[in-house]
This record gives sequence, structure tokens and C-alpha cells, in this order.
Amino acid sequence: MLFICLASLLACSAAEFTLVIPDASVSEPLGSTAILHCGLSPSLNARTFDVRWYKNGDYDNFVLFYNDQKTIENDKYRGRVSLIGELDNGNVSLKLDNLTSLDGGEYTCYVKSISWYEKANINLTVKALGSTPVLSYQESGEKMNVTCTSRGWSPKPTVTWRDSAGQELPHSNTYYGTDSEDLVNVSSWMLYSRSDSEWISCTVSLNHQEMKESRIEPRKDFWSGFWKEAFISTLVLSLTVLITFAILLILIRKGLLPHCSSHKNAKAAVNSHESLQPETLPLNTTENNHESLQPKTVPLEATENTKRGISSLAAAPEPTEERPVWLKYKVSLTLDPSTAAKCLKVSRDGKSVSCEKPNSKSDCKFPHVVSKEEFGSGQHYWEVMIWDKTIKTQPKSSWCVGVTQKPHSETQKPHSEKVLRALCYEEGSGLYTNTHDFSKISTKYNMYTLGLHLNCDSRSLSFYNTDKPSHNHLHTFNFIPQGTYYAFLSPGVKDDHPIRILNQD
Ligand SMILES: *[C@@H]1O[C@H](CO)[C@@H](O)[C@H](O)[C@H]1NC(C)=O
Ligand SMILES: *[C@@H]1O[C@H](CO)[C@@H](O)[C@H](O)[C@H]1NC(C)=O
Ligand SMILES: *[C@@H]1O[C@H](CO)[C@@H](O)[C@H](O)[C@H]1NC(C)=O
Ligand SMILES: *[C@@H]1O[C@H](CO)[C@@H](O)[C@H](O)[C@H]1NC(C)=O
Repeated sequence: MLFICLASLLACSAAEFTLVIPDASVSEPLGSTAILHCGLSPSLNARTFDVRWYKNGDYDNFVLFYNDQKTIENDKYRGRVSLIGELDNGNVSLKLDNLTSLDGGEYTCYVKSISWYEKANINLTVKALGSTPVLSYQESGEKMNVTCTSRGWSPKPTVTWRDSAGQELPHSNTYYGTDSEDLVNVSSWMLYSRSDSEWISCTVSLNHQEMKESRIEPRKDFWSGFWKEAFISTLVLSLTVLITFAILLILIRKGLLPHCSSHKNAKAAVNSHESLQPETLPLNTTENNHESLQPKTVPLEATENTKRGISSLAAAPEPTEERPVWLKYKVSLTLDPSTAAKCLKVSRDGKSVSCEKPNSKSDCKFPHVVSKEEFGSGQHYWEVMIWDKTIKTQPKSSWCVGVTQKPHSETQKPHSEKVLRALCYEEGSGLYTNTHDFSKISTKYNMYTLGLHLNCDSRSLSFYNTDKPSHNHLHTFNFIPQGTYYAFLSPGVKDDHPIRILNQD
């Protein structure tokens, strides 16, 4: 009897074991459960042993400690950790629930018998796939400074820039930060010139496996041939100023120039046209006179422009999540009733405007109202509903939206403001821009909402058909004179249906 006891005691104390770790690195999504497998070999009964799990070499601040048949959890892990294996079979695996980004790290499985101890390490990675990168750009000398930002990552992701040929682009500058939930956000910028590549992509990824990608194709004419175009447009402008002025003088002498406002005399008209850039739309004149006033000029905006435009995120992997870059510049506009032409009615909330007595005798095709908001710098985006299909089955007969430069003042007649750039529609004529060539835009009139993106810094105004999330580009005006802009809306005079500033979400 004594012999047997002694023999078994000897066997016990001499019991050596090793630890078996099937996966030395475990990777699980944020919020899920991780099991860190650890087992004794041979599979001895570990019930009388000490089992200690600790993290990042911190032996004293254990995650879980099993001793004397009792389990103690660290306060930080209370309710989230447990030993799930059968201790009788030497299974000391640890289960960790509701993973947080802080749970990532190196875990040690430490098992001690009376005479022996062994330990082994397991790496735990808590993964969180962040947001689809948002790309933006700004001019930086001859080049474009493109910035890519994304947030909500765990662990720290890598950022890779590529050109349209798939080549990795060097010289990016990447910065990391963490938010309140200890998730990583990243911002990376790089300088890019169009000659380098048609478009570039920004990929944020975890171990180059799970990734989110966005692409940007900055507008071609944003900088390429900038100087050439600038020179030609200056030349054209100077010539047309001279010609327009000469024609105007002749017409005024002959008393042929019509006026929108009866208060305005010929002298005032001359003055206003003197300071007016020739590309200003003489909205106040009737069509016939208008045509006779138009000198033939080289169109500044080729119609193929409509095919260009900022195309962003064009081929990124998850189309549903992608939104055009400029949408982040959304502004909420309110119309300023004091700037409204007499014949117009502005709604109480300042969001819509309509013509009070349509088809009454009017010498003004596009009486208008401007926004209270003014824009002198930065980028701004707003949307206008030009055809409320739910109320009216026929498209609106005429309308005009855009930006105007000079604010209304008490001394000015409401519609003597200068219209700078606008997209207009008239039944029969279709869509056209207010540049002298009145270049028509070949788009079937089927849209009901229109998005306007004003970039004061690059001095451009783009129009998009926003009926579909793809935001079809309609037209871009470039080189609009520097200044303070106001949103411009005209419901036309042919019907009483309002046009409306859409609420921003
Ligand atoms: C884990 O998360 C679930 C859902 O958020 C919650 O119901 C549960 O109480 C959490 N468990 C612990 C131990 O925190
Ligand atoms: C330990 O127990 C866990 C949970 O029951 C199980 O998934 C795992 O396969 C076991 N390991 C071994 C080595 O038996
Ligand atoms: C590019 O833009 C980022 C901000 O988005 C800025 O921090 C960086 O200085 C810019 N680089 C250059 C060269 O302008
Ligand atoms: C990350 O987010 C924090 C908090 O929102 C912010 O302060 C920080 O600038 C961001 N860092 C980067 C690199 O975007």
C-alpha cells in the first residue's frame, strides 16, 4: 500500500509536460469571440495545476488565473474571459468574448504543476475594417495635392497609392491617429501631376488582404494646359469686351437697347455693361436683341467638357458606399426675399421661388432671387429641384440656376445684378449655358434635380444631374472671375411652378 502510494507520488512529481498551441496567431473581428487554444501534452489532468493567462509579458497582471480549483479574472476582463476546455484532459484554452481593439496583443499560456512549469505564446489580432477612403484634392503649384482619409481601423492599416497602371506611387505622407474607441484613423497625402497617371487610387488595408479602395481622377483641365487656356481666354475676353462695348454704343445711340427695368436709363445700361464681363448673361434682353448682340467668339467651354469632370471612386469595389468627393461640401441655402424680382414669390421658409403671374407681359425672361449665403472661398455644393414630378407631370417650361457675383443692394434694381454663370432651360431651346456662344448641352430633358458644385479656389462651377447617385456631369465653367458668389435661381416666367432648394441631409 505504502509502496503504491509512494510510486504514484513519484510518478506525479516526475510528470513532465509540454504545451501544444495549434495556432500561434489568432485574428478575429472586433466584437466577436476569440478562443486561444492551449493544451497539455500528454493530456494530464490539470485540475490541481496552476493555469495563468497573461498578456504582453505582464505576469502579475494576469488576464485569468486558475489556482486551487478557483478561477480569478482581471477586473478589466470581468465576464468576458473563461477557461472553456476540459481541465481533466489538460485543455486549458481561453475564451475571450466581445473583443475590443485593446484586446490585441501577445497572450501567454502558463501552466505549473508541483514540479514542472511550461509556457507558450499566442498572438491575438482584433480586426476592424475601416471606412471607405475619402479622397479630396487641392491645387499645390503645378501639381495636385491629393488627400486620402479613412477611419475605424484595427490594427494599424497600411496605405498604398497606385497609378492607373497599378504601379505603387512613392513619396506619400501618412499620419495615424486613434479615436475615442481606440480605432485607428489614417490620413495620407501625396503630390500628383496628371502626366503621371490618368487616375490614382488610395488603398487602405490590413496585411494587404482586407482592404478598402477609392480612386480619383482630378479634372483634366484643372491644370493641364492651364496657361495656354488662360492666355486664349484673356485674349478672347479683351476682344469681346471691345466688340460688345462698340455694338452697345451703336445700339444705344439708335435707341434700340431694351431694358428689363423701366427705371433704368440708357446711361445706366452702358455703365453696367462697362463693368460687366462679356461672358455675363444679358438675361434682361429679349432673345432677338440678344442674338444680335452676340459677337461670334471661340467657345471657352468645349462641349466635350461635359464628358470630363471629377470622376471619383469610379471603379472602387463597393459602389453603394461611394459618394462623390464634393458632397462633403454640402451647404444649406436660404433665399433672400429682398433680392427677389417683383414678379416672384419666395416661400416663407426661403427654400422655393415661383413666378406669380406666368405669361403676363414681361420684358425679362429670367427674373431671379439670390441666396442669403455668400461664398468667397472654399468649396460649396447644393442641390435644386427643378421639376417636382410628384406635383407636375410636365417639365417646367423654363428655369435658370447658377451663381451671381454682385450682391443686391438697396440702390440697385433687383434684376440688375450680374449673372456670372448659369445653366438655363427653355422649352423648345433645351438646356444651354449662359456663355456667349450659348452652347447647348445635349442632354435629354428628363432630370428633376440638379447639383451645383462651386469651387471658389479653382474658380469653377460644375453642374450635375443628381437624379441618380452616379451624379452625371453636365457642364463645368472654368475661370469664373474671382469674387464673392451668391446662388442664383430663376423660375422663369412661363409657368407658376416653383423651383426649390433641396434640404441637405
Ligand atoms: C457582449 O456584447 C453583447 C452584445 O453587445 C452583450 O449583450 C453582452 O452583455 C456582452 N457581454 C459581456 C460579457 O460584456
Ligand atoms: C479544448 O477545448 C476547446 C473548447 O471545448 C476545443 O475547441 C478544443 O478543440 C480543445 N482542445 C483540445 C486540444 O482538445
Ligand atoms: C497637402 O495637403 C495636406 C492636408 O490635406 C497638408 O497637410 C500638406 O501640407 C499639403 N502638402 C502640400 C505640399 O501642400
Ligand atoms: C484621428 O481622429 C482624431 C479624433 O477624431 C483626430 O483628432 C485626428 O486628427 C485624426 N488623425 C488623423 C491622422 O486623421
